[in-house]
Amino acid sequence: MSYQLFVFPENEVLGEELLQNQLFRRGAATIRRFPDGESYVRLETDVKDQRTAILCTLFHPDEKILPLYFLTRLLRQKGARSVTLIAPYLAYMRQDKVFQPGEAVTSDLFAVMLNGWVDALITIDPHLHRHGALSEIYSIPALVLHAGSLIADYIQKHIEKPLIIGPDEESDQWAGTIAHQAGCPYLILQKERLGDRRVQVSAPDAEKLSQYTPVLIDDIISTARTMIETVKRLQAAAAPPPVCIGIHGIFAGDAWQALKNSGVAQIITTNTIPHPSNDIDVSDLVLEQIERL
Ligand code: R5P
Repeated sequence: MSYQLFVFPENEVLGEELLQNQLFRRGAATIRRFPDGESYVRLETDVKDQRTAILCTLFHPDEKILPLYFLTRLLRQKGARSVTLIAPYLAYMRQDKVFQPGEAVTSDLFAVMLNGWVDALITIDPHLHRHGALSEIYSIPALVLHAGSLIADYIQKHIEKPLIIGPDEESDQWAGTIAHQAGCPYLILQKERLGDRRVQVSAPDAEKLSQYTPVLIDDIISTARTMIETVKRLQAAAAPPPVCIGIHGIFAGDAWQALKNSGVAQIITTNTIPHPSNDIDVSDLVLEQIERL
């Protein structure tokens, strides 16, 4: 049985790829803002007794959450049999513990919210650090897809003598797996976060570096300070300019320009978030896994 797919603004590229497959049929809805900033949502196709899916990648989540809520409610009011959220990038996964007394653990609160809105969630490489699995916080079925094999494939095809570098302990799950799949060496550095835009990254083992193309891999590039500090460490060790690969390229504020200016050879991301750096397409991954379901 196919899904009627509702594609949120900014998700059109991936949406069109998914709609090429018979698993999805186009659902029509208008989602826009009134001049005062409030959201307008109108459903334009019949969804009664149908399985529906919403494609809405959740970067800049605060501006998407209210229209998403309105659409999920509307689909239910109009009799949809089920509502699945396809969020290639799942937001609010990094505040996964109380770091300072009094803080909200927003990973858990965000999950409670989505649990009440949709029947199932499909996402790609969520930032699982202190939570070992989405099921620890999501009570709805949550399918986690991994872009690692696509990235490994990209590295094998495009990068000569890669040495994969993960900038921090939690990047091991991505960097280590990708290195294994691509059949190349890797190393994991240590990172200390000093503030939203301030991090310290440990120095890599300089001996290995000169013979390889360093490939920095992280799940998220947000302010890009993690990448930039790692690039500085590589430069200090006289390594060749690195290729930076992020699964989810948020590029907050000046991040894109600052990373480009930092002396990198290339910046590559997957298209879980639309951005000029997108060079790895995740649409087949989504289709294959949904077909398996
Ligand atoms: C958190 O540890 C993530 O894995 C990334 O390393 C982090 O989100 C990158 O953030 P930024 O680009 O702001 O340094």
